[in-house]
Amino acid sequence: MKCNNSNPALQPWVPGRAGCRSSGNTKRRDSTNVKSDQEAQQGIKCGDVRVHTANITEMMPVFEVRHNKSRFFGDYADNAPAQCAQWALPAKERYMGDFNVKPKNPVLVIGNTHDPVTPLVSARNVSETFKGSVLLQHDSYGHDSLMQASLCTAEAIRSYFVNGTMPQKGTKCPVKVPLFSEEDGWDEVIAQLESGSN
Ligand SMILES: *[C@@H]1O[C@H](CO)[C@@H](O)[C@H](O)[C@H]1NC(C)=O
Ligand SMILES: *[C@@H]1O[C@H](CO)[C@@H](O)[C@H](O)[C@H]1NC(C)=O
Ligand SMILES: *[C@@H]1O[C@H](CO)[C@@H](O)[C@H](O)[C@H]1NC(C)=O
Ligand SMILES: *[C@@H]1O[C@H](CO)[C@@H](O)[C@H](O)[C@H]1NC(C)=O
Ligand SMILES: *[C@@H]1O[C@H](CO)[C@@H](O)[C@H](O)[C@H]1NC(C)=O
Repeated sequence: MKCNNSNPALQPWVPGRAGCRSSGNTKRRDSTNVKSDQEAQQGIKCGDVRVHTANITEMMPVFEVRHNKSRFFGDYADNAPAQCAQWALPAKERYMGDFNVKPKNPVLVIGNTHDPVTPLVSARNVSETFKGSVLLQHDSYGHDSLMQASLCTAEAIRSYFVNGTMPQKGTKCPVKVPLFSEEDGWDEVIAQLESGSN
């Protein structure tokens, strides 16, 4: 992968994990990209949110559904729907159907084993409703598949995007680094990807 995001003017617009290998640690890589990431996330999440209101009473049921899902973490991210409540830009496209669908191209779903935010059971649920979908289990802790790197997961993602190839059903990908090692393992995995066939 050729990569140069050292132009300071580009920094806010080049997501750190989109191909550039930073020599710094995870914290620095995240902080340089926090702007574009947050604004993009806000646009996507708030466009998808269905309840838009300035009335807190009307927001309460939204929070309640979340709180009911988890006694410990239910209120952790209330700021997300709260910030979106008065989002004024309607999404250009918003899917309002159910998710029992057959997409044009099958969807690769990645769920990690110990995710306190988007649990594996929900990844299974999503994968089962999309026809032709395969669930890849990324055997890590933390939220999403980026917290602990896996060459196996990275290769599966690359094959999916390059060739449309799905991993075998039941694939479980090991991660490179142990928990609390203060390393996410990405530098090693990206180096291995680069030295591979591509
Ligand atoms: C990266 O881009 C900057 C700004 O455009 C340039 O000064 C620098 O030489 C480039 N570095 C490499 C390794 O290409
Ligand atoms: C807020 O919503 C509640 C419930 O729908 C309604 O009873 C109340 O009048 C609303 N308040 C205002 C200021 O619109
Ligand atoms: C949340 O759980 C409480 C207690 O089980 C229940 O009374 C309430 O209806 C639930 N609220 C929603 C919005 O699901
Ligand atoms: C997925 O979750 C939804 C909402 O809880 C539920 O209605 C649906 O039956 C589940 N589907 C599968 C395949 O588990
Ligand atoms: C894509 O398929 C070609 C032809 O089978 C193969 O040589 C290549 O390694 C594949 N690339 C990836 C990223 O899987």
